[in-house]
Amino acid sequence: MERIGVLTGGGDSPGINAAIRAIVRRAHEEGIKTVGFHDGWQGLLGNRTTTLALGDVSGVLHVGGTLLGTSRTNPFKSGDGPGRIKESYERNDLGALIAIGGDDTLGVAHRLKDYGLKMVGIPQTIDNDLQGTDYSIGFHSALTAVTEALDRLHTTGYSTHRISILEVMGRDSGWIGLLGGLAGGADIILVPERRFNLQAVQQRIEKRMELGKRFSIIVVAEGAVPDELGHQVTTRTGTDEFGHVELGGVGHYIADQLAKVNDLPIRVTTLAYLQRGGSPSPFDRILATRFGVKAVEFSLRGKFDVMTALRGGRVLPVPLEETLNGPKPVPEELIGLSDLFY
Ligand code: F6P
Repeated sequence: MERIGVLTGGGDSPGINAAIRAIVRRAHEEGIKTVGFHDGWQGLLGNRTTTLALGDVSGVLHVGGTLLGTSRTNPFKSGDGPGRIKESYERNDLGALIAIGGDDTLGVAHRLKDYGLKMVGIPQTIDNDLQGTDYSIGFHSALTAVTEALDRLHTTGYSTHRISILEVMGRDSGWIGLLGGLAGGADIILVPERRFNLQAVQQRIEKRMELGKRFSIIVVAEGAVPDELGHQVTTRTGTDEFGHVELGGVGHYIADQLAKVNDLPIRVTTLAYLQRGGSPSPFDRILATRFGVKAVEFSLRGKFDVMTALRGGRVLPVPLEETLNGPKPVPEELIGLSDLFY
């Protein structure tokens, strides 16, 4: 193998650059050149490339985002997309192509096997919702941001005797909400895996007030469903190229409803992209480095149509097909843990 390709697709996460750096370094050790594609699948559709030499990945370990850029382009939605991707792949004389991304990006990577492309995936999403791997790059860094936000909300919420609602990301899974909420000591945690009832939320706040607590902190995942509504709260109509709606607004929905029955002042904080930007945590830097190295090694061993998955501490090749099984839900056991602190 003389050349290996790499692209980063979907929403970015802290830690992607650490993975690119590891790919370039491990490939270099084998005398393999790394070709980077700009802006996810878009870069392959238009053959927009950049050569990644050792110097190009120097000093990026701690830098968030992706030096290659990203997009939510679905090549199966554009005229002969897979054909154009194959053309770029062949024109660059690639022996393998590494796709770094979430379920959409890795789903496309899996489908490209039918077009003769040799693909290896690296799981990357702050949502941690990819089946087949214990953790994805970015999740731990997002948790750090949520925890820090909750620490800050605690000091101001406690002083001003308010209900603070923190809305976090995660799409259809509650990994960020639940684990962030637990780490930050939230009083109420609402996740998509379990519909919630506003009356129960109000009762919980009342119970805290009876105990002399004049503030409460609620963490709500953007995809959580209020029983009273029966569906998720979205910011606008329409979907992206992978059919996803834009979630957002459930924090304000809860605030509006609680204001009808509760006298405490209520404030909403939406963490949004602040939990996706910034420097990767030490865990993500190491995970990304291990994934990057293994992705090259799987390619060298001819292990394709797999992703680098973390399973019980080891990085193993797991079929990309596993990522197609829908979002990985938060286990009931962990949700139970949050019940204990209710
Ligand atoms: O998948 C990562 C994620 O940050 C989700 O948590 C969120 O719903 C979505 O991406 C936001 O997407 P965009 O960057 O397209 O607004």
